[in-house]
Amino acid sequence: MHQPQPYIGKLAVLYEGKDSLLPYEQLAECLSVPLYKSVDAQTPEMFFLAWRDGVLRLIDRELLKKGGLMVEIDPRNGEQRSWPAPKQGALAQAIGRKTQTVVDATTGWGQDSLAIYRMGYTVTCIERSPVMAALLADGFKRLAQLDWVQRLELPVPRLLFGNAIEHFAALKDQPPDCIYLDPMFPPKRKKSALAKKSMVVLRDLLGDDTDREQLFAAAMATAKKRVVVKSPDYADALGGKPDASYQGKLLRYDVYLLSE
Ligand SMILES: C[S@@+](CC[C@H](N)C(=O)[O-])C[C@H]1O[C@@H](n2cnc3c(N)ncnc32)[C@H](O)[C@@H]1O
Repeated sequence: MHQPQPYIGKLAVLYEGKDSLLPYEQLAECLSVPLYKSVDAQTPEMFFLAWRDGVLRLIDRELLKKGGLMVEIDPRNGEQRSWPAPKQGALAQAIGRKTQTVVDATTGWGQDSLAIYRMGYTVTCIERSPVMAALLADGFKRLAQLDWVQRLELPVPRLLFGNAIEHFAALKDQPPDCIYLDPMFPPKRKKSALAKKSMVVLRDLLGDDTDREQLFAAAMATAKKRVVVKSPDYADALGGKPDASYQGKLLRYDVYLLSE
């Protein structure tokens, strides 16, 4: 995933003939992947990007007729629909009540970033995968058009593309209170029946984040008050014994405090 053309043979852009061709051509060029107008048995790629109903989606070849995955901008099940949502639950405890600014250095599908944003924190998102960055940019564009976001004149999260370790250098003058990390860990079993489809696709497309220790060290050298690491409950704590740990469903938020 760190090579200049990481998606060759894995991903293509698919034009389904419904809208203007230009954005599809631009996306294919920007990601250095082929552009197809149809898919057949000879097509090698497993994943396709296409706009359906005006939303950029990542479509699994086996589920070509289905909707595809997109950055979901609506609150998760059980989350309050007002803004700011109450700072409750393990994620909020880990981020901390006094925290104001959060950098999510591993944004992925943006689900944690958006939950943190909806709780009223100021969020900056970093993502190094060009395909995930394209999906996030589309999601944040839709977010900016939502009624409540416009009514409250809320800025949407800032999205930075590239390796977070490199972006941290530019944050040193105004460090965020909290840096949030959710890198991809190797799965416990080969195929987990419990893994969410979106995370399975992410692993198939990008692989594990083998440089997560360097990312943790860089985050500790950059954050002002704390670094939070989300990890599967079976994995060792990324930075050794944390100062606090909050248990979620099959996962943990490990908190490392920094003395100012
Ligand atoms: C497990 S996913 C994160 C899922 C995310 N928390 C969510 O709620 O959807 C990990 C993501 O972090 C990104 N990532 C990992 N290491 C990174 C780094 N050093 N810089 C930027 N992005 C990184 C990967 O490309 C991947 O998209």
